[in-house]
Amino acid sequence: MSDDILVHREGAVLTLTFNRLDKKNAITAAMYTALADALVAAVDDDAVRAVVIQGHEQIFTAGNDLQDFKERPPVNTDAGPAPVFRYLEAMRTFPKPIVAAVAGPAVGIGTTLLLHCDLVYAGDNAAFSLPFVNLGLCPEAGSSELLPRLVGYARAAEKLMLGEAFYAEEALDMGLISRILPPHEVNGFAQSQARKLADKPSASLRVTKQLMKKGNDASLKAIMDDELVQFGQLLRGPAAKEAITAFMERRKPDFSKF
Ligand code: COA
Repeated sequence: MSDDILVHREGAVLTLTFNRLDKKNAITAAMYTALADALVAAVDDDAVRAVVIQGHEQIFTAGNDLQDFKERPPVNTDAGPAPVFRYLEAMRTFPKPIVAAVAGPAVGIGTTLLLHCDLVYAGDNAAFSLPFVNLGLCPEAGSSELLPRLVGYARAAEKLMLGEAFYAEEALDMGLISRILPPHEVNGFAQSQARKLADKPSASLRVTKQLMKKGNDASLKAIMDDELVQFGQLLRGPAAKEAITAFMERRKPDFSKF
């Protein structure tokens, strides 16, 4: 297993930690595999009753590794889904509570994965962004449905079309996060909340989560499948190539021809 994701269980709480600080916790295919493996194993492991996903005090994650996107664009094959899609499906269907601890930037999937968590705690330094259009891409992780449902179309369109960062106070107002804390307290607080959940009757929690999500299950699965196809096509397109190359070359992308 890659050290870029730390998987650690203490009591009944399984903690998944982004641990690739030199690259701002940008997520590679190997990291998605490690995350998906840990979640899939936790589904039927009675020793795990709650999960925490966390990063570092100064960075949650810079989102998908853009170099990886360029060199190994995610595709589903006969052997199975691409690691990122496997991870997202594991998040969408995970039956036990997931608590997220976010401090610093949470870019792209770093923000959209939160839509699949149950409790989300953020540092006052958290910066959320959905820069898919700026990268020549489209939303993923069901965010094209979940975000408008959460905050209304107009506000979701602003976040998903302009892709500008927004901060903890606004995220709280939007209902994306549960509470704001000093950055150095976020991971610890998420742990203590997860321990509280782990002490509760697991069947009640499972059914509560299932009932809260049930109404939208079918449409969410359909939109995620659709996003997957569109995202894959756009990733191979000229605007995404230009955006990713521009990021690597540290320059502003030129979309005037696309
Ligand atoms: N993919 C690959 N590498 C990334 C990355 C990403 N998404 N985000 C950061 N990195 C790398 C940088 O290339 C740099 O590597 P280097 O030191 O070898 O040059 C290192 O991480 C540090 O990044 P840097 O941009 O210098 O840090 P910062 O503190 O100034 O900014 C971010 C942090 C997260 C705001 C900024 O890195 C960023 O915007 N990253 C891209 C986010 C993105 O578009 N993600 C895709 C979403 S779909």
